[in-house]
Amino acid sequence: MIYLGADHAGFALKEELKKYLAKISPEEVVDVGSFDPHSTDDYPDYAKLVARQVQKSRKNKGILICGTGTGMVIAANKFKGIRAVCAYDAYTAKMSRLHNDANILCLRGRKFSTAKQKRVLKLWLSTSFSGHARHRRRIAKLSRL
Ligand code: RB5
Repeated sequence: MIYLGADHAGFALKEELKKYLAKISPEEVVDVGSFDPHSTDDYPDYAKLVARQVQKSRKNKGILICGTGTGMVIAANKFKGIRAVCAYDAYTAKMSRLHNDANILCLRGRKFSTAKQKRVLKLWLSTSFSGHARHRRRIAKLSRL
């Protein structure tokens, strides 16, 4: 399952990516909001909703969008077992799955190309964790921090 959340600054991109995901991914997509963008839609609230779902199963992934992606990544990484990344380019997106087994992707709703973010999203979703021992060891260390 893919959980999708955004604050007011990420709302428009969330709506775009929801349509895009329906085309490119067979996985069920659950939109946790915001459904009615307003400046009181605060990113920590949506990060919490998505992170809580991603914590429930290794199969779940999350996509979080705010103005920059940074508020979302800070908030999401406060939840145990969450490895959230901000990826603005294909290389970071790919490596965050291969090496870090990232389970939440944070994107930016403002001042960035939607087409680029679609490419980043597609690559992130289609890249699997490498499973190499050295990466498992590092991820285990992360979870003990
Ligand atoms: C909202 O104005 C903005 O601060 C928020 O969307 C996000 O970019 C914070 O990191």
